[in-house]
Amino acid sequence: MLEIFVDSRDATATPVWLLRSSRLKDWCDSHAGAAAAWVETSGFKAETGKVLLLPDGSGGAAGVLLGTGDGADPFVTGALPTVLPLRTYRFADLDGIGAENAVLGFALGTYQFDRYTRKKRENPCLILPDGVDGEEVSRLARAIFLVRDLINTPANDMNPADLAIAALKVADVHGANSRVIVGDELLVENYPMVHAVGRAAEVAPRLVDFTWGRADAPKVTLVGKGVCFDTGGLDLKPSSAMLLMKKDMGGAANVLALADLIMGAKLDVRLRVLIPAVENNVAGNAFRPGDVLQSRKGMTVEIGNTDAEGRLVLADALTEADSEAPDLVIDMATLTGAARTALGPDLPPFYTHDDALAVEIAQAASTTFDPLWRMPLWQPYDSWLSSKIADVNHISDGPFAGSITAALFLGRFIEKSKAWVHFDIYGWMPKPRPGRPVGGEAQAIRALYCLLKSRFG
Ligand code: BES
Ligand code: MN
Ligand code: ZN
Repeated sequence: MLEIFVDSRDATATPVWLLRSSRLKDWCDSHAGAAAAWVETSGFKAETGKVLLLPDGSGGAAGVLLGTGDGADPFVTGALPTVLPLRTYRFADLDGIGAENAVLGFALGTYQFDRYTRKKRENPCLILPDGVDGEEVSRLARAIFLVRDLINTPANDMNPADLAIAALKVADVHGANSRVIVGDELLVENYPMVHAVGRAAEVAPRLVDFTWGRADAPKVTLVGKGVCFDTGGLDLKPSSAMLLMKKDMGGAANVLALADLIMGAKLDVRLRVLIPAVENNVAGNAFRPGDVLQSRKGMTVEIGNTDAEGRLVLADALTEADSEAPDLVIDMATLTGAARTALGPDLPPFYTHDDALAVEIAQAASTTFDPLWRMPLWQPYDSWLSSKIADVNHISDGPFAGSITAALFLGRFIEKSKAWVHFDIYGWMPKPRPGRPVGGEAQAIRALYCLLKSRFG
């Protein structure tokens, strides 16, 4: 369990009242006297994430008010840990926010990416409300912290070798069987596009492959885009677009955290995780626009733009995933800028041919407040990927529907899997929200964990 959680009924814990703006007047009426007067004096309006300490008359804090505004943010308690004095708190009123979300939000608010700073922050403690499973919330929080740490770590400390080590660490904790194919071995083992994308980088490309669980359990395979840095390759990105590209392994980071949750909960699945870990960089041996690559599947792929590298490394990994005809293949990738243009940073699109699965995902997304939106694998656009000299082009030549055409390209490498779903995530908070500082962020994994738990728990 996280250190911040206290599993007792400490009567000296400071009460925290969550409060919507519309209920502020009621609260003041029922707490008439010094507390209500202090609310008035301080101009507290119970806006989302606003915190007010209530004085106890002798220099201490009698309690805390946390504004929840319209009550729409279930993780609003994430605003507390960074501003509260270091002591132990308990929730006195959640004002409609679910207890488990309130606890998770508080935990998420304790996150600090402190790898490169001496200014490490200490955190206040929280008494677990009745009925909240502190272990489960801790596992969720730790998984999300793993995603954030992996994404926030810059590419000089998170290269393909570092990412592979991080993946093996997750595998080893749960006793998974793992294997890493490195450098020219990728050619011997027939992962030509993983090799082509990563070969110009100083640190060799590699494929991490681990399996866990009962051999005859339902097969669930996770594939994550692990582009540790995306310069764009010879189709070099402008500096403004390159600045954040340490996050281009966000798919891999999320997949590893989801795998950690699945294995930690001992779900009855045969889990497989495939992570192509590469850096898309520039050198004399870089792949070029106009090149034709051989894929693992045998299909030839014309390169329209070296900056559309993610779908290439995913294609080889998905081919391998598909070869076992798993029950479910999930891939996650920071794949296109177009997904952000369509839905913005906080609402990742997902793609699947399976309508029932799509409904299940949308349901899980809404119950876990982990927003996701289905977009179509619009078949008529598939012809946009045709090539005059190869079996397929990996991009279309127009500016339209870039997230859809990327998904359609990936879909060409899925044949035998019973179900497949692709997530085009952003993996980053551009603006802070309570418990979610600017930086790397987990997306879709709470929803997917909820779905998998209900199927295989
Ligand atoms: N990693 C990028 C996509 C990306 C950019 C995700 C910014 C999140 C934020 C990907 O490799 C890429 O560069 N995609 C290109 C594809 C295009 C060349 C067809 C894009 O989206 O512009
Ligand atoms: Mn790119
Ligand atoms: Zn990329």
